[in-house]
Amino acid sequence: MKEIRLGICGTGTVGGGVLDLLTTNTHLLSDQVGAPIRVVKIGYRSNKPLPSNEEISFSKDILSLADDPEIDILLELIGGVDIALALVRKAIMNRKHVVTANKALIANHGVELFSLAEKYSVSLRFEAAVGGGIPIIKVLRESLSGNQISYIAGIINGTTNYILSEMAVSGRSFSEILSEAQELGFAETDPSFDIDGVDAGHKLVILASIAFGIPLSLDELYTEGVSQISIIDLKFANELGYKIKHLAVARIADSRLELRVNLALISTSHLISGVDGVGNAVLVQGYPSGETLLCGDGAGAGPTASSVVSDVIDLARNLILGQLDQVKPLGFMPTTVKSREISSPDLVATPWYLRIEAEDSSQVMSSIAGILAERKIGKQTVVSKVVDSNQKKIQIVIITSPSAAGNLCAAAEEIASLDSVCGAITKIRIEDLPSRKE
Ligand code: HSE
Repeated sequence: MKEIRLGICGTGTVGGGVLDLLTTNTHLLSDQVGAPIRVVKIGYRSNKPLPSNEEISFSKDILSLADDPEIDILLELIGGVDIALALVRKAIMNRKHVVTANKALIANHGVELFSLAEKYSVSLRFEAAVGGGIPIIKVLRESLSGNQISYIAGIINGTTNYILSEMAVSGRSFSEILSEAQELGFAETDPSFDIDGVDAGHKLVILASIAFGIPLSLDELYTEGVSQISIIDLKFANELGYKIKHLAVARIADSRLELRVNLALISTSHLISGVDGVGNAVLVQGYPSGETLLCGDGAGAGPTASSVVSDVIDLARNLILGQLDQVKPLGFMPTTVKSREISSPDLVATPWYLRIEAEDSSQVMSSIAGILAERKIGKQTVVSKVVDSNQKKIQIVIITSPSAAGNLCAAAEEIASLDSVCGAITKIRIEDLPSRKE
């Protein structure tokens, strides 16, 4: 019986989790593949202690694994782009199958790498790149492939979801919770990728490419981070029946595609609002399937390892049968992939949550109402609360009718310039998600 030999590059959270899973579930995996799966070599860069295992050789020369004849499948789990790209290119050119968890690599260089893999007749798999342990890549590419997809909305960054949920329940500070997420191994090496929406953006373009048959490209993606969030907004949102989430959205509206990562208020009646902590969720609306919601842990050693190992098993099965993947990596045939018109972020219309700190005067409300009316922005809910009776300050919260961002931001600037208004206006989109209500 042929043995499937793996080389793992990276001994961090994901690499460690994958090694643990491969060594604990050894029989379960080989029983499914029909041959033993064995880790033969590990490439590493860190100075942390390495697992002791006499059957595995270790090398600090990560690139050497890409041309090691002992290795059938190379696992790129080092993250980052430069060395990962060189490693994956070299492995493919040496006719090794590759599994990666690297969303930045796929989002930025997927087009080149998939075509290289095709040229060298090998597979490049990336289930773990989006949604940690949620099997969303395969589901979109294969299980939902007969559908016209119209809307994807996802909580696809575990770190920001952990921060927002912990802030809401514990009232602890953003920075304290971010440090905790880093210690737990959820955050990227550079956590600004998480908190600025870059990581969710990488994941969103991968999902959109599979769902809509569009080229993998970050060019027209809009991203907004979470660092401006404050506890007061989480509290107001809660009082009004919402939770604040960091949402990645690919939605068809007026025949254009919106591609955006932004903070969003989501009704607490929607199932996705209950996905807290490091949880991720992806809601897919398709015709004729309707709404499909997948959720699970979106980061961390075990969940990510689960997705990496599922790719390993698929490739190992192919190797045993002597065949290649039967589907294209992004579902669509490369010759049928077509660009779509992407909506300008300024024109994307949703309802909004506005919070305005102002002096408690009778005049301020009517001035704000006048500015909104002039721009045809309707008010669905208005709440005002005294926050500082000594200084006569109030917080005014307004839920607007659906309004384009450009118009809304211009109104907010006008409101901020009123003498009785203090500081900038907080503006957060409200995402009216389809169905799947509790
Ligand atoms: N930093 C990522 C997250 C890791 O928090 O979601 C998983 O992709």
